[in-house]
Amino acid sequence: MSSNNKVFLGRRVEQQVMGHATRDGDGVKLTRVLTQAHQRRLDPFLMLDNFGSDDPNDYGGGFPDHPHRGFETVTYMIAGRMRHKDSAGHEGLLQNGGVQWMTAGRGVVHSEMPEQEEGVMEGFQLWLNLASSQKMCSPAYEDIQSDAIPEYQPHESIRVRVISGESNGVQGAVHRSIDLFPTNPLYLDIHFEAERCFQQTLNPLHNAFLFVYRGHVNVISEGIKTAVNLHRMAILQNEGNGVVIEGSPGAKILLIAGQPLNEPIAQHGPFVMNTREELIKAVDDFRAGLFTS
Ligand code: CO
Repeated sequence: MSSNNKVFLGRRVEQQVMGHATRDGDGVKLTRVLTQAHQRRLDPFLMLDNFGSDDPNDYGGGFPDHPHRGFETVTYMIAGRMRHKDSAGHEGLLQNGGVQWMTAGRGVVHSEMPEQEEGVMEGFQLWLNLASSQKMCSPAYEDIQSDAIPEYQPHESIRVRVISGESNGVQGAVHRSIDLFPTNPLYLDIHFEAERCFQQTLNPLHNAFLFVYRGHVNVISEGIKTAVNLHRMAILQNEGNGVVIEGSPGAKILLIAGQPLNEPIAQHGPFVMNTREELIKAVDDFRAGLFTS
């Protein structure tokens, strides 16, 4: 909650980004919204992909076995069913409204394969960096079913799903020690049914952005409205202690924020470390089969 003795200053939109179409895994069609170009500005977030199609040719290949080291993947399914299996022995079914939070740590090999032959497959995958001290931690995995994600309504026409972090006093499904996971991410899915404002406090040190996946919204700061249209990512300025978002009927957005790590980022595909030497070691370890033992 915003404290009453402090003036609420909503952040402004600093930049709007349109994702670009690409394919990943075995030909899965997706839009890469947050790319390597934004990793510094949006530290600790490394990537955001949005996939969505009702054509099985766009998703049927899924994501066969592939490795990760040094960060976390957060997959949020809006629609569809995906089976996850990894080398640490975890298996789970990811479906409508559920979240899979995987901490790759020192290394996993996993697959994410569709369990449907038709219908809509829609969702997001966010890559969240790990602090250098945690990059080689044991892999961990959490499957959060839709009904385990706390929801609240700040107004009858606004529904907020709190995946992680805290929103107006409501604690998210995922909360962890800040000592181990200093990125302290906020991850909200906000649905609007009317032209109404939603307000969220944000730590001014935390980098933040929103992504519009239905309809359009306005970000309001000191009376100035900035429209953010469908499929745009809006990077928010850090100045201000929160954000005010005016929805339109049917609008849906993700609002994501986190504490930057301010550490060097070295990435080679699915490996994200701090130095080039660590990347070389990651590739060597993977080739030597050390991720699966
Ligand atoms: Co993966």
